[in-house]
Amino acid sequence: MVRTLTGKDGGPLAWILEAGPASYVIALFKGRYLVQYHWGSRMEPGLDGLAAISAPLEGFGAAQDLTDKSYGMHRLPQEYPWPQGGDFRSPALCAGILPGGQPAMDFAYRRHSIVPGLPEWGGLPLPHGAKDDGPLLHLEIELKDDVSGLAIVLLYLPLPGSGVIVRAARLENRGKRDLKLDRAYSFSIDLPPMAAGLDLLASDGGWARERVLERRRLGPGRVELESRKGVSGHGSSPCAILARPDASEDHGEVWAAALMYSGDWVLSIERSEEGGFRLQGGLHPELFSRTLLPGQAFHTPAVILAHSGDGLAGLSCGLHRFARHNVMPAAWAEKERPVLLNSWEAAYFDYNEGDLVEIARGAADLGAELFVLDDGWFGKRNDDRTSLGDWEHNPAKLPQGLAGLADKVHALGLQFGLWIEPEMASRESDFYRAHPDWVLSLDGRELSEGRNQLILDLGRPEVRAELESRIAGLLASARIDYVKWDMNRPFSRAGSPGCPQGEARHRYVLGLYELARKLTAAFPGILFEGCAAGGARLDYGVLSFFPQFWLSDNTDPVWRAPMQDTASLFFPPQAIAAHLSASPNHQTGRVTSLASRSRVAMAGVYGLELDPRRLPPGEAAAVRADIAWYIRHRGTIQLGDSWRPLAPEDDGNWTHLCVSKDRREAVFLWMRPGAIANVGPERARLPGLSPDAHYAISSPDLPLFGSRVFTGAELRVRGFEFEVPPGPDPRALAFELSATDAEQGW
Ligand code: DGJ
Repeated sequence: MVRTLTGKDGGPLAWILEAGPASYVIALFKGRYLVQYHWGSRMEPGLDGLAAISAPLEGFGAAQDLTDKSYGMHRLPQEYPWPQGGDFRSPALCAGILPGGQPAMDFAYRRHSIVPGLPEWGGLPLPHGAKDDGPLLHLEIELKDDVSGLAIVLLYLPLPGSGVIVRAARLENRGKRDLKLDRAYSFSIDLPPMAAGLDLLASDGGWARERVLERRRLGPGRVELESRKGVSGHGSSPCAILARPDASEDHGEVWAAALMYSGDWVLSIERSEEGGFRLQGGLHPELFSRTLLPGQAFHTPAVILAHSGDGLAGLSCGLHRFARHNVMPAAWAEKERPVLLNSWEAAYFDYNEGDLVEIARGAADLGAELFVLDDGWFGKRNDDRTSLGDWEHNPAKLPQGLAGLADKVHALGLQFGLWIEPEMASRESDFYRAHPDWVLSLDGRELSEGRNQLILDLGRPEVRAELESRIAGLLASARIDYVKWDMNRPFSRAGSPGCPQGEARHRYVLGLYELARKLTAAFPGILFEGCAAGGARLDYGVLSFFPQFWLSDNTDPVWRAPMQDTASLFFPPQAIAAHLSASPNHQTGRVTSLASRSRVAMAGVYGLELDPRRLPPGEAAAVRADIAWYIRHRGTIQLGDSWRPLAPEDDGNWTHLCVSKDRREAVFLWMRPGAIANVGPERARLPGLSPDAHYAISSPDLPLFGSRVFTGAELRVRGFEFEVPPGPDPRALAFELSATDAEQGW
């Protein structure tokens, strides 16, 4: 819902956006400036404070309006601040008039409109409407600086079904002179002072160490989360969470911002002199600039804004609904994902068709549903030094081609999936030899390589057209049900001939979106999984095209469990591929129990990353049983709501709870990451259940536990206890819960 509140003179006083439990209110101050009035829980009716907005100039302020020296911009909570205007905090926009760069500033309100549907957004993805949203409306508010002629059009889109508000900005040169944008953020928000302060939840890390989450109290100054790698990055998705210090998994007030973007980004949080907090971000300004000629417009990526008064679970449940229903291609939102076996850790580059068919046969025997042929099937690729770009099968490995292998795999009752890395070329490839000028480069400098490969310049239409036709031909050449779209190096020396340096990297991302948009539309039946050397590109931009991701090459359960938890703050289990791999782990070398590897993988889209022929004796039966159990419960796991509940004592154990939409079924997964001696029964609390329902709990791992009945109320508040029998480390258990008419008999 979007509404304008008008004053006695018919002019706007405020705009009210409502989305599920959240509301966002923008006020117009002095008829000129857009002021952030409220972002939080719904509070209607109640905008009585509008008349009292003030920003006293005294202190150390500078008046912008010499006819009214009663206020200073430094105290106003602004919607899209600029520099040199008396607001000394970080700006959302840095723009200047060419030549010379005299700043564009003094923006004032000009007009607004409330428009049905969604605008086209310069080739960038925007969320789409879902059933629960009802008819969509968006709000545009325009500010303009008359000296430069620059107009800022702010876009606001509330999505009632998921409680999310989407923002973005369009910058238009309506003047007669060229303008330069050095910073063009997607949004800026000023949260009010909070006496107890505010916590930031953010992650960092690298390849195979993705998304290590940390929570810290914000102090003086400005904190920046960012990626300069050309992709959103292993350390963090372009996302941040702010939490009141008392907020926890199922209690308290939290806010989140997530950019719908897959390239260089920044999100910053700044504590102001008043004690408020400015949250803002968008394209990374160090790697972006854009000249706007008269009549031209520039669109910023969208940002997703979510708020919850019910802790992190309230926030992530809303974001999961949003990711599934408003972002991923609609056809995949309600689709359960198949259990796959991926050939990478089973065979790496070293295989022939016979090996692959035997691995696929083993996968079918274990109950998997899809066999994925990973890297190494094309050109002369026997290691990572050659052939990217030559998307023709290697006849020495696949004498009957991809089509022959795909048919054999289908004959085993499995779907067939294929790995590709379309954005790259190896220097050692026919493709690169034919098009040496199609890679990202800087004039007069050596090409930079990462994993021995070069990045194709997707910003150029001729490069995209050739890739589109080659990849479309490949996908049509065999019965392909799934594609793993990989991307294995960061950007460096990444320019594009004839393209201003500040534009090349953003133009690449736009080109990637266009290519992905066309190929996914041409092959709607193929399930695309996004991957970037593990999890270097997990974001709502890519999710618009690829409905699931590979989170990390690290499948060691002790590492993987917290990574999954961090990802689950923003993305649903249905979007996060999680594989059971061999032990010792290929990345960390750690020996871990089968139960821990399998239970942790059950919290996402379960798959196998191993050679079934090499499973230790006795393990095949256990894996077969696990796959059958997972398939029985995957509707609850992939399509329900999920929680990261803590034991009442916060004992360091990993837990994951999934509850079906009707609250009648649930799955609870548990792991104790470290070994411990002399430990009593464990206890786990299960929020998210219906308080009035009775649930029968049992575990395939604990025959002696039997089936016990508890009320949802007791499970939510006190939890339940279970004893963990001795066994290989880490200990891990799965439980299933089903609503029942029976009550606990005494
Ligand atoms: C990186 C991916 O994360 C792996 O799963 C695998 O597909 C390799 N690339 C193949 O080169």
